[in-house]
Amino acid sequence: MAKFNENYLNLKESYLFSEIAKRVNAFIKENPDKKVIRLGIGDVTLPLASEVIKSLHTAVDEMGKAETFRGYGPEQGYDFLREAIKDYYSRNGVTLDLDEIFVSDGAKSDTGNITDLFALDNIVIVPDPVYPVYVDTNTMNGRKIVYLNANAENNFLPMPDENVHADIIYICSPNNPTGAVYSKEQLKVWVDYALKNNSVILFDSAYEYFISDESLPRSIFAIEGAKKCAVEFCSLSKTAGFTGTRCGYTIIPKELVSTASDGTKMSLNKMWNRRQTTKFNGVPYIVQRGAETVFSVEGMKQAKEMINYYKENAKIISETMDKKNVKYFGGVNSPYIWFECPNNMDSWDFFDFMLNKIAVVGTPGAGFGENGKNYFRLTSFNNKENTVEAMKRFETLF
Ligand code: MLT
Repeated sequence: MAKFNENYLNLKESYLFSEIAKRVNAFIKENPDKKVIRLGIGDVTLPLASEVIKSLHTAVDEMGKAETFRGYGPEQGYDFLREAIKDYYSRNGVTLDLDEIFVSDGAKSDTGNITDLFALDNIVIVPDPVYPVYVDTNTMNGRKIVYLNANAENNFLPMPDENVHADIIYICSPNNPTGAVYSKEQLKVWVDYALKNNSVILFDSAYEYFISDESLPRSIFAIEGAKKCAVEFCSLSKTAGFTGTRCGYTIIPKELVSTASDGTKMSLNKMWNRRQTTKFNGVPYIVQRGAETVFSVEGMKQAKEMINYYKENAKIISETMDKKNVKYFGGVNSPYIWFECPNNMDSWDFFDFMLNKIAVVGTPGAGFGENGKNYFRLTSFNNKENTVEAMKRFETLF
């Protein structure tokens, strides 16, 4: 009989957001007349920008004509989109080569799939709390995970411990779930640590477009030395409302190399290219045309308008926290507000309490790690009316 991967026995029974959906669906079944407001999963609500829609339509029409029809595309992404991404980075002061950019269907898949490239005996560092995908995918592979405490004392921005060695380091900034953002100086410390320890930083910048404080880094490659030790994942899900359209990209610098046990030089960029050409057939042409438009002048302007709309919601949530004297983090350069559960409540208890009392859904901090067990996350991705209504109800909660 085939042996199954027993590492799966070490996973929680269900993925965080599936568990939330299960509880919410049960509540709706029992309370069909209640209007549930969802501030749980970070899923966008605004429609795609009109410029993006125009490009999608044009691309659909191209697919309907023999002269412009496309079959398999390049696994790495079409050059028109890679050029647009390269330009975007260059506008932010980062120079990339086209073949360092890999277009994908999103940061979730790539942050999980990248684990294919690393040996199983690597030690992985993840902050706690953390986006569960990093933990789950390494658990599936059976890798050792060391947790780094992120808490109110370090403003949820843990720094490296010189006494702890790590081979792979996950950093998400602006952070999911806490909304905290590393400064350039702090990221430089991480890069120096990685260079000293021959580690690789897997940097998730999916929320970079929420940064409005220009002194904060949008990319790990804004930090000197990072091209020798970091990979960056980004996505248009939050930048331009592509959660359902699916498009992201991963940057793997050619300078990122390691030496195999037999002395052979190994390039992570070449390995990822090898992996993707074997296991991935690329993102649909139509979607890539839409994504290309996100990086145009008008596309970026419309994306910024969407982000500002969500930031306004974040402000509404933060103001409510202030009013209720609740200690919170994030909400400024991030769509997430991370707060202490009132009366030191357990976060899943608070989830049930909030759902049952006011029919508002959030995400329990425990789902992101031990240090989140008394914290709770709300997102600003619902519409304004619902956010206002949810916060009115929140004010009556305790
Ligand atoms: C979240 O709510 O944490 C995110 O939407 C999850 C994701 O991007 O996969």
